[in-house]
Amino acid sequence: MTALEQPPVTAPTVGPASSVSSASAPMVGSASSASAPMVGSASSASAPMVGSAGSASAPMVGSAGSASAPMVGSAGSASGGSLVPTLPGHWYTDPAIFAAEQERIVEAGWVCVALAADLDAPGAYRTVQVGRESVVVVKGRDKQVRAFFNVCRHRGAQLCVEPAGQVRNKLQCPYHAWTYDLTGKLIAAPNLTQMPDVDRFANGLAPVAVREWLGYVWVCVAEQPPSFEDEVIGAVITRLGDVESIDHYGVENLKLARRISYDVQANWKLIVENFMECYHCATIHPELTEVLPEFADGYAAQYYVGHGAEFGEQVQGFTVDGSAGHARIPGIAEDQDRRYYAITIRPGVFVNLVPDHVIMHRMTPVAADRTLVECDWLFLPEVVGSGVDLDRSVELFHRVNEQDFAACERTQPAMSSRVYAHGGALVPSEHHIAEFHHWVQDRLR
Ligand code: FES
Ligand SMILES: [Fe+2]
Repeated sequence: MTALEQPPVTAPTVGPASSVSSASAPMVGSASSASAPMVGSASSASAPMVGSAGSASAPMVGSAGSASAPMVGSAGSASGGSLVPTLPGHWYTDPAIFAAEQERIVEAGWVCVALAADLDAPGAYRTVQVGRESVVVVKGRDKQVRAFFNVCRHRGAQLCVEPAGQVRNKLQCPYHAWTYDLTGKLIAAPNLTQMPDVDRFANGLAPVAVREWLGYVWVCVAEQPPSFEDEVIGAVITRLGDVESIDHYGVENLKLARRISYDVQANWKLIVENFMECYHCATIHPELTEVLPEFADGYAAQYYVGHGAEFGEQVQGFTVDGSAGHARIPGIAEDQDRRYYAITIRPGVFVNLVPDHVIMHRMTPVAADRTLVECDWLFLPEVVGSGVDLDRSVELFHRVNEQDFAACERTQPAMSSRVYAHGGALVPSEHHIAEFHHWVQDRLR
């Protein structure tokens, strides 16, 4: 895995060329061991919750365990045993399965492709990959963000090859100079006036569906995009119980403080599965389990509808050493203070909410065994503007990322082992991952 830190600027320089290694970032504070005594860990998370079944869209109520916190997704094996099978190993290595996932999952759903603030001025654009499609996302003169397939309608040259850039008011193909305005309309081409029958709209750039939410631009390349409300906002509601709970954080008003990109040599599903469970937390996340003692029990915050993992009693903030964080986001509710909420928006977005910042992960699967992850740390604009040192805050989840991705990379080679031909096992605190597997399989049928 390689991690590249990118400057938190809105200048069009997203590529690795402008990056510096995050290894040079100062490591701050203690890294205490997972065996250190945990303080203040009293939670419903220690109640095993197994044996129910249900769809992710229907939070389950009335299962065993904490009465106030129904589980997210299905859990439990048909046989009622402790171990539930995972997907077989080849699901993580087979290029044909990867291609089918690109087509039927990534290209069929909503993909979070850019921080809206990175498209700050008219003409600012980003070139992004959505499954097998290249897409240009551009801000118009009218401040509207639009997205188009990155395909010239003449003979197919890619319009934009830079990951980001700035144009004045048009996109011009570098091959024969067909030229489009920022609404996609064909406005000029050599000898175009001598071809009066050419429809400038029909031969304009092919549009891609766009939404803005949480301060990010989401696109869908499908001809008939699924409901954004059901697929994206619905995932948050399934996890938190309502949409107001995330609205409180005003994510769209926060400002990018740090961005680190990770090049992970592992299948994207291993990364999703890892994010969904906390069985590994006590083993590989010593700093995180110090801050969130209930994680040492192995029950992830995503296990119960609306549940946020509580900070340890001695912990002052969501920082690598538990020291104080920064100004609290004013809109959050009292019961959201001193808590961490994790949300998975399939297939490729993880949202992490803490009182003073929000961490957004966006994944781009590029091969069966390789996934790019871009992680943004967002704080209140006044916190970022003050120039205060944010290293302790950023360092916590940067370490978590490196620990998680190293675990995924350690797992990937074994996916092609004959021993893993029929897969492995999910323990009760991981049973909800089976529902994710069913979700993937359903889409590939
Ligand atoms: S391919 Fe774009 S102008 Fe010819
Ligand atoms: Fe983890």
